[in-house]
Amino acid sequence: MRCRFRPRTVVSLLLCVATVGLFLTSVGNHSMSRSLRSLWGPRLCSCHKCLPERNPCFTDILKEAPDPFLSKEHAISAEDFKWWKPIQGTKGNFTLYNETVKRVFEMFPRFPTLPGPHPDRCRSCAVVGNSGTLRGSHLGPLIDHHNIVIRINRGRTEGYEQDVGAKTTHRVMYPESQTELDNSTYLLFFPFKTRDFLWLMDRYRTDENAAAKSKRFPNKDLVLILSPAFMRYVHEAWLRRAGSYASTGFMGLALSMYFCDEVNVFGFGADQDGNWDHYFEILRNKKLKTGGHPGSHEYTMIEKLHEKKIIEFFKGF
Ligand code: C5P
Repeated sequence: MRCRFRPRTVVSLLLCVATVGLFLTSVGNHSMSRSLRSLWGPRLCSCHKCLPERNPCFTDILKEAPDPFLSKEHAISAEDFKWWKPIQGTKGNFTLYNETVKRVFEMFPRFPTLPGPHPDRCRSCAVVGNSGTLRGSHLGPLIDHHNIVIRINRGRTEGYEQDVGAKTTHRVMYPESQTELDNSTYLLFFPFKTRDFLWLMDRYRTDENAAAKSKRFPNKDLVLILSPAFMRYVHEAWLRRAGSYASTGFMGLALSMYFCDEVNVFGFGADQDGNWDHYFEILRNKKLKTGGHPGSHEYTMIEKLHEKKIIEFFKGF
């Protein structure tokens, strides 16, 4: 059976899960896990459960995605560019985009490769959104327990350690959400406009003038750029084109599936009035809602992933 984890095909996923469940019941948990292992070969990772083992249908869905990161080998198509261009009103055409990205590749000739799955390793990941639900949650120690902690935009830790933890290994960022970056944290750069690439290059320039003008980031070897083709895939395949495009947090969550064996999710969810408030500041704009993002679709999808035991979602209350 072909399994696709899309909202419209959740029924097939349920059937798939049910089939596996029936098989489990009929042969007993222990022998089932052994038979699955013999079907799939050795364990993929050393976590309690690795992502593909959580739901056998899931591997297929992940395989549909384009490469999540931009590189010389993984450029985007003219169609992808057409989707991406209006999301934040990029100026210029596909030629300008390609010329700009070419300059990025000259500056970063080799992007880092993230370690892949290994039977002796558990890449446990915490994806931490910025929701006000984290306030008073006491989830900090649990978040810090993960090998990889992905934080989004301005999600800070100082003064909030008890609720959000202190560790950050990966930071999702785009120019307008700029924050500090230390020497050992990966930058997961999400470009929304062609000129965002110029901002990125400026952050790593070494000449004095550039340094004086704006803050620089310290470690050029820890930069990964999300592909606009992947952004489109998340919008179309995961969110059925709801809203104009997925939020940085939701894209960060989808991305985590590509380099984590186990994904736990924290800090997602609007306040009682439907606003995307932050744990680190008082909400001033009471009409904020979830911006142009399909906040309720994203939340429902996160809950579904949790129900299917693909991720664990800690709501913070
Ligand atoms: O607001 P900001 O984009 O910096 O927050 C990071 C991410 O956390 C959002 O993109 C969104 O996915 C998630 N978020 C949320 N509920 C909130 C605030 C943020 O789900 N109240």
